Amino acid sequence: MARSALLNVMVQAAMKAGKSLSRDFGEVQNLQVSVKGPSDFVSQADLKAEKIVHDELMKARPTYGFLGEEGDEEKGTDGAHRWIVDPLDGTTNFLHGIPQFAVSIGLERNGEIVAGVIFNPATDELFTAEKGGGAFLNDRRIRVAARRVLSDCVIGCGVPHLGRGNHGKFLVELRHVMGEVAGVRRFGAAALDLAYVAAGRLDGFWETGLSPWDMAAGLILIREAGGFVSDFKGSNDMLADGSVAAGNELIHKQLVEVANRPIPTR
Ligand code: IPD
Ligand code: CA
Ligand code: CA
Ligand code: CA
Repeated sequence: MARSALLNVMVQAAMKAGKSLSRDFGEVQNLQVSVKGPSDFVSQADLKAEKIVHDELMKARPTYGFLGEEGDEEKGTDGAHRWIVDPLDGTTNFLHGIPQFAVSIGLERNGEIVAGVIFNPATDELFTAEKGGGAFLNDRRIRVAARRVLSDCVIGCGVPHLGRGNHGKFLVELRHVMGEVAGVRRFGAAALDLAYVAAGRLDGFWETGLSPWDMAAGLILIREAGGFVSDFKGSNDMLADGSVAAGNELIHKQLVEVANRPIPTR
């Protein structure tokens, strides 16, 4: 299916930033890195990539708002549209030479994500989706996995840092999931985790404590791939709440149920 002009703008921006990331990935030991919080690093590579994406998107649509991880939010005069951008999702992987990272760009219209692009320059994998147009990996249609039984499933997750809270609850969730599935994976780049659910590589995914830029593009990928995604309450408030559970209808439901099991008091 042909991409819209807007999606093309997003793809161009992601690929241009991806080139910059690829160059920096080759010289990762020379990058300046600073620490923003517990296990939250930012390098010159993140900042360069954000500038590239910002400039490309704002050149094409100067009136849209812009929310990027590494800069101050720009409101925009348009009111209806906002770019939501993670210029480098998986910074910790990147800084360790692990090729599991991506540029993630979501487009929000009147509070709803209507287009998403996630690009991993290390593997040359480009995930794209537009509302009503399906989800694609390098222009081939993707769908969420059809597995219905948890014991056949590989489920992805995010592991909260000890200093960022929620780890006690996470350990309880992990124990429940581990006991029921074929495997649990922690790849370290939430945007790609969501793209992997859309592509049927992961049967499901759950994480909490995320930011809008980690999720925006992934949400529409999953929906356009026929999947279900919500916050831990089962509502559509992921961007504000920071929690996300995803999979096909059945697996998503079971992950929401796991996230809501009572935490034993001892
Ligand atoms: C992080 C990654 C990671 C997730 C963290 C995020 P960053 O994003 O997506 O998988 O567990 O919560 O902050 O900082 O590498 O863009
Ligand atoms: Ca970060
Ligand atoms: Ca991120
Ligand atoms: Ca980031």
